Amino acid sequence: MSIKKSLLCSLFITVFISNAWSQNQAVTTSMNKVSISFLLDQSGIPLYSVTFGGRLVIKASRLGFRLQNNIALDSNFQIIKTDSLTVDETWNPVWGEVKQIRNHCKQVTFRLRQKSSPNLLLNIVFKVFADGVGFRYEFPVQPNLTNFIVSDELTQFNLTGDHKAFWIPGDFDSNEYLYSTSAISEVDAWKFPMLSFGNKEDNIPDQYGVQTPLMLKTNEGLYINIHEAALVNYSSMQLHVNRQNFQLSSSLVPDATGNKAYLRTPANTPWRTIIASDKATDILASKMILNLNEPSKIENTSWIKPMKFMGVWWEMQVGKSSWSFSDHLDALSVKGALIPHGHHGANTANVKRYIDFASKNGIKGLLVEGWNTGWEEWSGNWNEDHFDFITPYPDFDVKEIERYAKMKGVQMIMHNETSGGASGYERQMDTAFRFMNRYGYKAVKTGYVGQLIPRGEHHDGHWMVNHYLRAAKKAAQYKVMIDMHEPVRPTGLSRTFPNFLASEAGRGNEWNAFSDGNPPEHEAILPFTRLMGGPMDYTPGIFKLRNYAKAAPGRQMHTTLAKQLALYVTMYSPLQMAADLPENYEAQPDAFQFIKDVAVDWDDTKIIEAEPGDYITIARKVKGKNNWFTGAITDENSRSATILLSFLDKGKKYLATIYRDADDTDWKYNPEAYTIEKFIVDNTTMLKLKLAKGGGTAISLMPATGTDLQLIKLYR
Ligand code: NOJ
Ligand code: CA
Repeated sequence: MSIKKSLLCSLFITVFISNAWSQNQAVTTSMNKVSISFLLDQSGIPLYSVTFGGRLVIKASRLGFRLQNNIALDSNFQIIKTDSLTVDETWNPVWGEVKQIRNHCKQVTFRLRQKSSPNLLLNIVFKVFADGVGFRYEFPVQPNLTNFIVSDELTQFNLTGDHKAFWIPGDFDSNEYLYSTSAISEVDAWKFPMLSFGNKEDNIPDQYGVQTPLMLKTNEGLYINIHEAALVNYSSMQLHVNRQNFQLSSSLVPDATGNKAYLRTPANTPWRTIIASDKATDILASKMILNLNEPSKIENTSWIKPMKFMGVWWEMQVGKSSWSFSDHLDALSVKGALIPHGHHGANTANVKRYIDFASKNGIKGLLVEGWNTGWEEWSGNWNEDHFDFITPYPDFDVKEIERYAKMKGVQMIMHNETSGGASGYERQMDTAFRFMNRYGYKAVKTGYVGQLIPRGEHHDGHWMVNHYLRAAKKAAQYKVMIDMHEPVRPTGLSRTFPNFLASEAGRGNEWNAFSDGNPPEHEAILPFTRLMGGPMDYTPGIFKLRNYAKAAPGRQMHTTLAKQLALYVTMYSPLQMAADLPENYEAQPDAFQFIKDVAVDWDDTKIIEAEPGDYITIARKVKGKNNWFTGAITDENSRSATILLSFLDKGKKYLATIYRDADDTDWKYNPEAYTIEKFIVDNTTMLKLKLAKGGGTAISLMPATGTDLQLIKLYR
């Protein structure tokens, strides 16, 4: 087992039994600056509040449930027992942003019983960390509750004011939205055309939800992030926003009949998470969500290997070739665009061309989409068995591609688009994974475009939450790594299932191919929102930033080329795509060198500076090496900054290769211009960064050789 508890691991348990009837006094638990208080009010309603450095983060907010059959688990409680303990342990993730993670928290469990008949039991567990609070509900085994249905979870988060929020609407089926930045009082989630949204007919603005992770900033400069951890056997939590009193209420994604979750005692909910700090960098550095997840359930993880990959993919996105084999339209109606048929991309000769390129440039993986039959009418699918995941098109020679990839040292990545046919996929999974094992596929990218079958279920509902985990577990059984597109957004489960490398669950770079794309601030928001729960398959590395989309010649990306490089560092993923076409990389070999060099697995990470929606600068140390990579990005504003390279080893000289925007670069007018400079630096170097509008800087830092020291000038 790769997760080792350190020898220093300590566990102190103190248990005290409190007086059952005098519970109106708050019990406060603190870790450094973070405190959480819990009490039962006069009516036995459970309330909690959170402070950071003495400042209120969450005002007294209620907890509880409404269960089916009019069971109100929301008041009339008494505390029958309170248990507390301190956890202090360290563990090593199989892959990640850092080599070692400290899990240090105080845990307190309030065991509640309802005074009214039928004396139902409910536990509320809080874990207080130095960077935030997680809490969850537990339904213990009890005589009067066995199988039960959650009608509503009543958890609230009462904010202290009209904070600035970075939000996307609470669509039950998609996270692929642009972020809105507004005051809580201005959250107008109902304005978005959505794939599905339960309360549309209610037409009550305050009842419209937003997705989590929800990033907030107070007027006083406090940063707050609300999300959940370990979403297992439950539905995803969205937040209804009351715009008048700044109250956020848990809103669970319903199933086809409107129910929220089906549980059997003993059961528990995911952790509700509140990360808080007066520094935005602390939000990005937080490991609280991972710490709230269970250790790895996969014993032998030696086959799980982070990697960069290319894809017979962008060429379909931009309309150069097609997913489908025969002369039809690829109707990407879900994305609101029609991509005309060109030539079938996944043909053996073309795949070999990518294998050659990947092999030559040390890119380990290759994804091929459109290899299997069914792409002629794939979207808007009404057939749960539309794709069979084992039948290639006649011009895709599975055996020959296996042989050739092996010879060239490239790992093939399977593509299983279900087009929403999740029930069909469940039945076919074993067959699909056996096929992958047989033909040398080490990883799979799955996809759930469109409305789901089972009909009426939602991408973020209980059934699908269970489905994604079944897929991850099934993949692990066949030693296959998995990357999911269109799933529920992640909640740290890659700790428990480390073969679950990445997911999309957000608006990726691909939107620049088939829509007006993502504005420059998008990538400065995603790490504070979507990525809080886990890695995103964002697909960075586009070099041809204009005139790439066949259907829309005027379309352009909203970043500079140097920013595309910086994204490899700022958008953490152990599975990172070099998304552009080989010919576009061949045209810019100097810049491509950064993508060849950059790592995907790290021993250490320093969040140097960050402000949601504005800029992010991160430095990461390569796993097992003394090399560092730094990425700095900005939004639509140009930016100058000075960063101290204090993270480098003291007394050592490094060769810094700086890939920056050229002096006349601008994402709109001159996005592809970049400059590469080399300097000798050390840990006292103050590096001046100059980022263009929509720009970035990517830096590799390697220990300097004797020749470097002779030839390259010192930075000053
Ligand atoms: C949507 C995915 O996000 C994209 O990457 C993929 O190419 C298409 N679905 C087709 O599966
Ligand atoms: Ca997608």
